This record gives sequence, structure tokens and C-alpha cells, in this order.
Amino acid sequence: MKRIFSGIQPSGGVTLGNYLGAIRNWARLQHEGFHCIYCMVDLHAVTVWQEPALLADQTRQVTAALVASGIDPKVSVVFHQSAVPAHAQLAWIFNCVVRLGWMNRMAQFKEKAGKDREKASLGLYAYPALQAADVLLYHATHVPVGEDQKQHVELMRDIGNKFNHDFGVDFFPPPEAMIFGGATRVMSLRDATKKMSKSDPSDMSRINMTDDADAIALKIRKAKTDPEPLPGPDVVGPDGGVKPDVEAARPEAFNLVRIFATLADRPVADVLGEFEGQGFGRFKPALADLAIDKLGAINAEMRRLLDDPAEIDRVLADGAEKARGIADPILAETYRIVGFLKA
Ligand code: TYM
Repeated sequence: MKRIFSGIQPSGGVTLGNYLGAIRNWARLQHEGFHCIYCMVDLHAVTVWQEPALLADQTRQVTAALVASGIDPKVSVVFHQSAVPAHAQLAWIFNCVVRLGWMNRMAQFKEKAGKDREKASLGLYAYPALQAADVLLYHATHVPVGEDQKQHVELMRDIGNKFNHDFGVDFFPPPEAMIFGGATRVMSLRDATKKMSKSDPSDMSRINMTDDADAIALKIRKAKTDPEPLPGPDVVGPDGGVKPDVEAARPEAFNLVRIFATLADRPVADVLGEFEGQGFGRFKPALADLAIDKLGAINAEMRRLLDDPAEIDRVLADGAEKARGIADPILAETYRIVGFLKA
């Protein structure tokens, strides 16, 4: 059976980047023959400081965003990571399988730890081993993610293969990353060298799924661009993306074009065909209208769900029970393979 696992950190609000790069695809995959498991990864979130008073609400908010985007908790397993202890238990085994040299190559640690590595938590360093445990604990075969997670999925395959090899078993199947076309990497609205992120200090850099129409319009109006008109579809290469040299000269401009195309479910070439020769004075209001239209319904549904936190908690508790039903036997078998005495 094809099984999907993917996760999202409840470390703040959900951004348009999360939605276009991941959640929107997660909702579609439910109807494409996959068994889907979607997790609010709160154990990952605390690898950097999270205010305890906010974390629970953030977890509910991210859950509401998933459900409002069409993820049906009756069809998919929707839960929070800390409710299934087997994630942390398998992660420990993987901490002992993975090599320091492999971890040292992980780009996210370098990015998040910044210059002062000595002050980063040990959890932040071990983060990718926990992520491998998330997926392998369910024998998931596919991992739908944004471009930034590709390296972590490659590491999962390496960890699973090394476990199989070390213990002489064929136990963990190698998971495959699924990266969808369109906005696989939505960039900051203020600086297109950085990805749009919930942890960026500037709220103007991102569109949050909880932003109302006025906030969305303001952020798009203020988004960094340039005075040049948009080019025509001839700047699109054979892969459907903007040619790299053209993109590199105007990253902010093409970030907005890609957001438009993905929200509208249209190829970039098609969008450029429509707006060729026009400046951002024309393009930005069209993008704002489209974003408000597409996100408005999700936004309203999120607010409705968040009015009843007890119902969200019931969804998560139910999901955790289903998740434990799959994970516990796989952890038990892992323990047996490793040689642990039965508890
Ligand atoms: P996180 O919480 O940063 O993001 C959740 C998902 O959203 C995607 N994403 C983006 N896609 C396009 N453009 C962006 N600007 C953007 N920002 C975020 C991410 O690629 C991701 O798919 N380590 C993971 C969480 C995780 C996980 C897992 C994922 C933990 N365990 C197991 C898959 C499988 C993370 O930090 O995602």
C-alpha cells in the first residue's frame, strides 16, 4: 500500500508557503489512492524556544488550517507528535544509527543555528533523525514536502538503509520525496533570497492563513518588486519554470508570478501571457484579488473551527489513537530487531 506521512511545525501561524508548498497538496493526495498521515510536529517545534502558553494554541491553529484546507480527519490520520511516544523512542535508535558526519552536512542546522552554533540545542542538531523516525515509524512510502525538506528526506533513506544493513534486515522501506510543481519554494515578500517563513521577524514578509482581506491586500501592495513590466511566456524554459538567468535578475517579481500561477492552478507561461508588458501596478491588485478569493474561504472555516477548541482536541486525540495503532507494532518489531528484551 502507498502510505504518505508529512509534518508541519506548530511554531507559529501557517503561512502561504506552507499552504502552497505542502498543505494544498496533502489535501489532494487523500483522493489519489494514498493512506495519508499528517502530523503537527510539536517535538520538532521545541528544538528552538517555544512559549509554553502559546504552543498548545499554535498546535490547534495548525490543525484547524489543515482541516479548513480540506484534510478530512475521517479519511486521514491527523494528530500531534507528542501524543505518540514511539516517535521519540524510534528517534533514539536512529540517533545511534546516524553518523555525525551525515548530520554535519544538514543545511537546516547551519541556517537555524546561525553563527553561534555552541548555543543551539542538541535537539536542533538531532532534528533530522527525529524526522526520519516520523516517516519510517509508519513505513511510509511517500513524503510530500516543499523543496526545503528534500535533504531531510534523502537522509531518511540513508538512515533506513543503514539500519537495514547494520541489522541484516529488510525492514524500513526507503521513502520518496514528492515535490509538486508550482510554488515549491515560496519566498519572502520583502527579500526573495529568503523563504517565506513563520519565524521571520517581519510579519510583512509573509501571508498568514489567518490574515484578513485587508492584511493580504496590504502585504501584496507593499511586497518588494521592481519598476519593469512583466516579460512574456518566452522566458519560460522547457521544464515550465522561468529560465534561471532571467529569474536571478528579478527574483521578487517571479516569486509573485509563481504565487499567482499556483493559486490559480495555471502554468507560469499562461500567467505571463496574460500580463505581458504590464507593470506591478496592474499585476499586484490582480494577485491580491486572487489570494483573497482563494484564502478567504479557508480563513473563515479556520475561524469557525478555532471557536471550538474542544472539537479540535477531539480530532487530535482520535488521530493519535489511530497513529499509535500503526506505530506501536513497528516500534515493537524495531526493538526486537535491535535485541531489546521485551518490556
Ligand atoms: P515546516 O513546518 O517548516 O513546513 C511544513 C511544510 O511546508 C513547506 N514549506 C514551504 N513550501 C514552500 N515554500 C515555503 N516558503 C515553505 N515553507 C514551508 C515545507 O517544505 C514543509 O513541507 N521538518 C519539517 C517538518 C517535519 C516533517 C516530518 C516533514 C517533521 N517531520 C516528516 C515531512 C516528514 C518542517 O520544518 O516543516
